[in-house]
Amino acid sequence: MTRISVTVDGVRYDDDVEPRTLLVHHLREQLGKVGTVVGCDTSNCGACTVLMSDPDGRLVGVKSCSVLAVQADGREITTIEGLAGPGNTLHPVQRAFHERHALQCGFCTPGMIMAAVDLLSENPDPTDDEIREGLEGNLCRCTGYQNIVRAVRDAAAAAREAGTSAEPEPPTVEAVDAATPDGGLPSEGTPDEAVPQPVP
Ligand code: FES
Ligand code: FES
Repeated sequence: MTRISVTVDGVRYDDDVEPRTLLVHHLREQLGKVGTVVGCDTSNCGACTVLMSDPDGRLVGVKSCSVLAVQADGREITTIEGLAGPGNTLHPVQRAFHERHALQCGFCTPGMIMAAVDLLSENPDPTDDEIREGLEGNLCRCTGYQNIVRAVRDAAAAAREAGTSAEPEPPTVEAVDAATPDGGLPSEGTPDEAVPQPVP
C-alpha cells in the first residue's frame, strides 16, 4: 500500500491505496465521489473525466480511469460534485446543460460537463467545430450531440458576458463545510482510513 494525499473538491484526503488502483475507483469506492462514473474503464468514453492539477497547478481534464491513484498524490482534483459554486449555484456549464436539455439518460453528463469546462478554460469562444473537436473524447449514446454543442456555446457566451472564466471557483470554507456537514468526518459508507481533512 502507498500513502497518498489528494485534495478533492476542496477537501484533503489522506489514504492508503494499492499501486494498481485507478483514480476513478479511488474517487468512487474510497472517497464516495460516485458522481464520477465509469463507462468503459478503457479510456474510450470520457464518462470518468475530472479536472486534475498539473505540475504547474493548472486544472486540466483527465480521464480518471487512465490515471493511477498514486499519480494523483499531492494533486488537486475537481469532480462534478465540486463544480457548483457557493450555495450550490450551478456552474454556467451545468446551467446551460439543464436549460438546453443537453442530456437524456445522463450517464455521459458528468464527464461531458467536466470536459466542456476544460475546453472553455482553454478556449472561451469556441466555434461549433471546435466544441465538437474538444469533446471528441466523450461519447454520448443518446442525444446526437446537437444540444450538447448548443449548451457549451451558451455557457461560453454566458461566461464571456459575465466576464468570468469557465474554470471552477476554488472552494470557499463554506463550500467545504457544505460538502462535509458533519464537520469533516467521513460520510456514511466512507472507510475510516479515508478521513477527509479540510484544506488549511
Ligand atoms: S470510464 Fe474512463 S474513459 Fe470510459
Ligand atoms: S445522455 Fe445518455 S449517454 Fe449521453
